Amino acid sequence: MHLELDGRGPLQSQLVRALKEAVLSGRVAQGVRFPPTRALAQQLQVSRNTVLAAYEQLRAEGFMQGRVGSGSYVATPIVPAVPAPAAPERLEPTSDYIRRLRACHDHTRMPGRRIEGTRYSFQYGVPFTNPLLTSAWARALSHAALYTPPTYPTAHGNPALRAAACEYVAHRRGVIATPDDVIIVAGTQQAINLTARVLLDPGDAAVIEEPQYFATREALYTHGARLVPVPIDREGLRADRLPRTPPRLICVTPSHQFPTGRLMSLQRRLALLDYARRHDCWIFEDDYDGEFRYDAQPHAALRSLDECGRVIYVGSFSKVLFPSLRLGYIVVPPALRDDFISAKWVDDFGSPAIEQAALAQFMADGSFERHLRRTGKTLKQRRTALLEGLREHCGEYLEIEDSHAGMHLLVWLRGRNAAQGEALIAHASRRALGLYSIAPYYLHAPDRAGLLMGFGAMSVTEIGEAAKLFGECLRETAP
Ligand SMILES: Cc1ncc(COP(=O)(O)O)c(C=O)c1O
Repeated sequence: MHLELDGRGPLQSQLVRALKEAVLSGRVAQGVRFPPTRALAQQLQVSRNTVLAAYEQLRAEGFMQGRVGSGSYVATPIVPAVPAPAAPERLEPTSDYIRRLRACHDHTRMPGRRIEGTRYSFQYGVPFTNPLLTSAWARALSHAALYTPPTYPTAHGNPALRAAACEYVAHRRGVIATPDDVIIVAGTQQAINLTARVLLDPGDAAVIEEPQYFATREALYTHGARLVPVPIDREGLRADRLPRTPPRLICVTPSHQFPTGRLMSLQRRLALLDYARRHDCWIFEDDYDGEFRYDAQPHAALRSLDECGRVIYVGSFSKVLFPSLRLGYIVVPPALRDDFISAKWVDDFGSPAIEQAALAQFMADGSFERHLRRTGKTLKQRRTALLEGLREHCGEYLEIEDSHAGMHLLVWLRGRNAAQGEALIAHASRRALGLYSIAPYYLHAPDRAGLLMGFGAMSVTEIGEAAKLFGECLRETAP
């Protein structure tokens, strides 16, 4: 019997692989006798014990019959010698869901993914982290790992974390709720998916802002919602452009419109709530980074004005801590509470217990507030550095959106269309500068070039250098 060892891993495993390959390929047919162990050991220059152990494993797995001494044979039933047909590269869509998913999402081409090989990157959505946060979080996590029972978590979340979230939203966002109104979820993304499942049937209309957060758009679309984009202006969502036929759901980012950074005015908030009340629709309020505000008084959340229980308020720890945590919370209207908890249970039985316990502790002992204060200060310096850098090096080429919160700015490129914007991005990437277009954040992108400029992950010095390089790229590609 001709056998070749492949040289990977222990000799016994190599021999098992080689023998199995001989059987599976049909080179050694059913009923054929395997070589005596001593002879095979000599042939392959391995110890007899190695061969004995390999034969034992083949016997245990059903490839071999017979006993040592009386001969070992290829067992029945034999695996077909004919090679199985190669699996197709990609199946036809297996369901309507997959048809919709493929129509809107390609995981290899995510908007805003870091451009390879760049020295400076204005990538949006990179978290602000620092060693103090890392070590404080590590302490909270290891303590929680010791004391958290290894049972399934509660579906709607750790009670201490729900209480801490309640206190936090009351203090920072003016949202009055009890811990019973709070459900801990795997970030905003799970919140929108649960909301779609609880409130929408395929074909139901859902209003989204135009432009909008693409992940909300994709979650709704894959669920089968009919998307109704409503434009925004300086005061946020154009309440006067809400559809005549009311939608089931309206998704908004009132405190820091994504991606423009605009703040929804009080009049618009009241108009939106009034529309929802009159037409019996629900509002999904994504308050993803309302925490970091710079030169304006924080506006209370839309939910704090809601007297009719129409607003599903969602907060995330992705921006205020880090996105790998995958934790956020929903303040759910009482009428929807039980259905949301059931939907959460069916989805994943509850969010990871150790991380929830660690976060509850982190919030209760003041570490979270300290981190927010520190981060707020640093982000303010970085935002100022970006604004100064842009004004100094790029001023004549840009219109900067006046945003007072968050970790990015939106800039429009004066006199450039979308294609010229793409050409600038390509040119900048050749000069090791990462720039990111606003186009993927539209359902119907305008023929106008705009960029999202994240400032959370670069130091003040780097931001200054990157702005200078940006200015050079703008001059080099000026139309
Ligand atoms: C508008 C908006 N909402 C929510 C999030 C955060 O989502 P998650 O909590 O699922 O990480 C982001 C992150 O980029 C965002 O841009």
